[in-house]
Amino acid sequence: MRNIDFSYDTIIIGAGAAGLMCAWQAAKHGKKICVIEHTKKIGEKIRISGGGRCNFTNLYTSPDNFLSQNPHFCKSALARFTPHDFIALLDERGITWHEKPYDEKPGNENARGQLFCDNSATDIIDMLRKGCEDEHVEFALGTTVKDVRHEGAAYSLSTTRGSMTAKTLVIASGGLSIPKIGASNFGYELAKKFGLRIVPPRAGLVPLVFDETLVTHTKPLSGVSVDAYVNAGKKRFREGLLFTHRGLSGPSILQASSYWHEGEPITIDFTPDIDLLSRLKTARQNTPKQQIQTVLGTLLPARLAEFLCAAAKIEGRMADLPDAALEKLAAIVKNWSITPIGNEGYRTAEVTLGGIDTRDISSKTFEALNAKDLYFIGEVLDVTGHLGGHNFQWAWASAQACAQAL
Ligand code: FDA
Repeated sequence: MRNIDFSYDTIIIGAGAAGLMCAWQAAKHGKKICVIEHTKKIGEKIRISGGGRCNFTNLYTSPDNFLSQNPHFCKSALARFTPHDFIALLDERGITWHEKPYDEKPGNENARGQLFCDNSATDIIDMLRKGCEDEHVEFALGTTVKDVRHEGAAYSLSTTRGSMTAKTLVIASGGLSIPKIGASNFGYELAKKFGLRIVPPRAGLVPLVFDETLVTHTKPLSGVSVDAYVNAGKKRFREGLLFTHRGLSGPSILQASSYWHEGEPITIDFTPDIDLLSRLKTARQNTPKQQIQTVLGTLLPARLAEFLCAAAKIEGRMADLPDAALEKLAAIVKNWSITPIGNEGYRTAEVTLGGIDTRDISSKTFEALNAKDLYFIGEVLDVTGHLGGHNFQWAWASAQACAQAL
């Protein structure tokens, strides 16, 4: 391999959403930039996001949509680069988009404002690539950084393409989710080397998994989906819930998973907006000969109705069921409590919670407070959004704030 001494104003490590946006915007100010990416492709997570259409922002993004040990940290960048600023970039280039339709129901505000490309997520990747090319950003793809040192006033990188130096270094290497397309712990290890603290990472926006005994009972429900409230800790989400062959998924579960901690239960209301007990009592009067699971099956998918009746150990004709039986069933349907044994992990998680402790980073410039000219942006930081476009908005906004400061 040739040993080349590259010199740049800024080297950015990671060609994902945050790295590409930062490179493009900083190069507009005349900076000589190189982006190092250890895989051979740029923007892979953008490509697979939003079912291939990239849910690139959310019209209602606010600091309340983010988890972090310091909930104030994200405020400045989000205020300085809004969803409308990103939309303007798309509109200037004729990239068309739409808001995902949603049913307005109490408690499902999280489903609002999700913007997707009309055509494909590659529209966004192409916009970022072209923006970078127009501003003469250089790319070192398929390049691994072996060592980073701060020597004098420059960062010196030893890479598989030779040594590279830059005055400033931006880490945009993301979190640990989906290792098969390039996720690595590079950002955390580098941060530790330069004395920054780490909030322990864990998988977020991830399906939950049941133990073997529960799975044998829920497996027949695999593929059943319902509109449900899911509670984890003090948070409650109302969106679709999906039974899988290993446990639960769907937007309401993914949202709740970021607030769920091992050993804790989650509770589910399978019939939001319905006073189930009075419905059951009315049915007992009006249709006394019907079986209880048939009655519940008018409100829920039949397989789920059968499962919940079995879980409550309630069966038989409506006329034969005392109030106590109906109360027991209603309690289970409206407040099904289960303790998952875990989640599917980084293999399927959409995001990584935790990361670089924001106490060690400037919320204005994204520079490390105790390591001059070293910046961290995007998901590598301890800032994680809800499902619905908030994570990309964080990537764009943190990248833009950093680019302004370089
Ligand atoms: P990102 O992970 O995008 O980029 C990091 C880059 O650094 C990668 O290219 C990686 O290969 C590279 N890298 C890692 N280690 C390196 C090293 N040692 N050397 C060099 N390069 C290195 N969000 C949202 O808002 N809307 C959505 O629709 C979706 N959908 C979605 C689907 C799926 C399946 C996933 C997994 C995730 C989402 N997300 C999402 C989340 C979103 O993709 C994520 O939050 C952003 O991509 C984070 O942007 P970053 O640039 O910080 O990291």
